[in-house]
Amino acid sequence: MTDFPLHASGDLPMTPRSGAKAARYAVALWYVLALVGHLAFLAYILAVFYPPIAAHGTAALEGMHLPAGFREGDILGNLAATGHVLLAAIVIGGGPLQLLPALRNRLPRFHRALGRTYVMAAVISAIGGLYMVWTRGTLGGVISHLTISGDGVLILVFAALATYHAVGRRFAAHRRWAMRLFMAASAVWFFRVGLMGWMALTGGVGIDFESFTGPFLYVLGFAQYLLPLAMLEWYFRTQRGVSEGELLVFSGTLTVLSLYMAVGIFAATAGMWLPRM
Ligand code: HEM
Repeated sequence: MTDFPLHASGDLPMTPRSGAKAARYAVALWYVLALVGHLAFLAYILAVFYPPIAAHGTAALEGMHLPAGFREGDILGNLAATGHVLLAAIVIGGGPLQLLPALRNRLPRFHRALGRTYVMAAVISAIGGLYMVWTRGTLGGVISHLTISGDGVLILVFAALATYHAVGRRFAAHRRWAMRLFMAASAVWFFRVGLMGWMALTGGVGIDFESFTGPFLYVLGFAQYLLPLAMLEWYFRTQRGVSEGELLVFSGTLTVLSLYMAVGIFAATAGMWLPRM
């Protein structure tokens, strides 16, 4: 992100404002990787779900890789599943664009229109997802169902707060809640990238592939949104003004996480998304 107004306190500088520069590069690296990874997931969603749904409606999900995708006679559940995967394109494609300060400043009307569409898509997706998990189940055990449900609830809360502050024209607060909404709405992307990165690096330690349960998946179930949200709060803190030392630790931590994310993006694209396209 280019608007990263850091205010290093400056009394411990190694080189003047080196921490601010490091943080700016670390945030830019994170953003570019997140953008590329979201585009890869978006391409997968558009290629795998849109053409069959356009041709066959909700029945297109029958026989696909989604255990909770289609049930004969369950019209509401099938609509929820179909709407969920179609709206995923708006959430995954729109989210990274909303974070771009240049777009926000130069095309404010586009930012507002996409913002409204994004919030609606995220809210409907979250409600549909909660409905699917608790009426049809999905891969994994009850802990995974609870952790993804926690994400669904956070999406609803953050969407309400981002909208509330936008309507009240409190733009600083709106921006903070909208960024929290992005992290929660992209948790399913962080999950896939985190999972595939782990498989590439460890071969899947802590995962029982038969039942799709295991300690790593429980940790990832929470980390898919709590870790990005924690890093975001730290980013907000650095913007309020912190020491050079803290800026360097923040930059180092974010860079290590971004490198892990890069491995995960490559592994998810090569091992999960491209083969299904
Ligand atoms: C709003 C952000 C979300 C997006 C963008 C999203 C996206 C997706 C996508 C693309 C799929 C298809 C799976 C694939 O091919 O990889 C999917 C499936 C699914 N999602 Fe979400 N999702 C979101 C939130 C949620 C939430 C909050 C829940 C639950 C509370 C949820 C529950 C499900 C379920 C149950 C499936 C079907 C999986 C199966 O058949 O086993 N999603 N989602």
